[in-house]
Amino acid sequence: MSRVYNFNPGPSALPLPVLEQAQHELLDYQGTGMSVMELSHRSKPYEAINQQAIERTKRLFGLGDEYTVLFVQGGASLQFAMVPLNFLHSGKVANYVLTGSWSDKALKEAKLIGATHTAASAKAEGYTRIPTAAEIQISANAAYVHTTVNNTIFGTQWHYTPDTGDVPLIADVSSELFSRPLPLDQYALVYAGAQKNFGPAGVTMVIARTSLLEQENPQTPAILRYSTHADNNSLYNTPPTFGVYLVGLVLGWIEQQGGLAAVDALNRQKAALIYNIIDGQPDFFRCPVQADSRSLMNVVFRLPTEELEEQFLKQATAAGMVGLKGHRSVGGVRVSLYNAVPLAAAETLGAFMRDFVQRHG
Ligand SMILES: Cc1ncc(COP(=O)(O)O)c(C=O)c1O
Repeated sequence: MSRVYNFNPGPSALPLPVLEQAQHELLDYQGTGMSVMELSHRSKPYEAINQQAIERTKRLFGLGDEYTVLFVQGGASLQFAMVPLNFLHSGKVANYVLTGSWSDKALKEAKLIGATHTAASAKAEGYTRIPTAAEIQISANAAYVHTTVNNTIFGTQWHYTPDTGDVPLIADVSSELFSRPLPLDQYALVYAGAQKNFGPAGVTMVIARTSLLEQENPQTPAILRYSTHADNNSLYNTPPTFGVYLVGLVLGWIEQQGGLAAVDALNRQKAALIYNIIDGQPDFFRCPVQADSRSLMNVVFRLPTEELEEQFLKQATAAGMVGLKGHRSVGGVRVSLYNAVPLAAAETLGAFMRDFVQRHG
């Protein structure tokens, strides 16, 4: 077996012990005589899988009953629509902070449903920084303020939580949930596709303040209402059972690592390693992101020419490091350093970067 160092932006690396456990249990899940994929979602063993994933989430973030954890489908992209469908009431204004293509898409969905306001935007600077607290102007009658905490394509991340007062703060945390101890008590609702830091594609997690769900628009179709999923403990219709099972295993693995503070420390170490090499070779590497807005999850950088970038990516692949190509809309190199990417992967890439400069600088 030969496994590569996987820097994919999502779907992305999963912890090897999790894949091994899933493999071990694949044909006979805990004496049931069948795979998790073959279990009824109404069976006791599956209910236990579902409950364990919810409990691990609450334990990792220290959440009580004031927060509800949901598993839904449709990816973060469906959340772009579900948030305004449920919470953008007539006479209210949905506020969006624009920090990249994903927040643009979220705003576009809200515009189809009701009135919107751009509370701050970093578009003019090519999304190379996160707006400061002073720049955020919340409108009158705000339904909520929506942010994108980590911007997977542009390599920026919020390193503070904006104070929105009584206005609910809602966030897309797709490429960072479970990578660090986010202060969820300051958020009314967050959502994330599992496929970056905590599982496979096909499962989307929503963590919502339980009281917020009472404010949703009752005209919303049942499948798109958060309370439908909450009232049925995420078992309203057939859930992505194998995905939820893998999420539970990954969360168990995070607990074994020492929880969110421990994975955060390691994630910071990996990111610092790559940023230090970029900053140490300013004539060769260039990170376009403002220093205080740099992402710990997606490190983006450029080389002196596109030809060199092409060679860099080709040689990295040949050396067993994949998934480093920047998003097609921005080019360059992107190093995704999610939870399951080991320190050895960042170290090997760092050595490769130094060597590449020696040979081409
Ligand atoms: C920050 C962010 N939001 C939303 C999405 C879209 O997620 P999905 O493909 O699960 O709909 C992505 C995908 O990469 C993302 O990085």
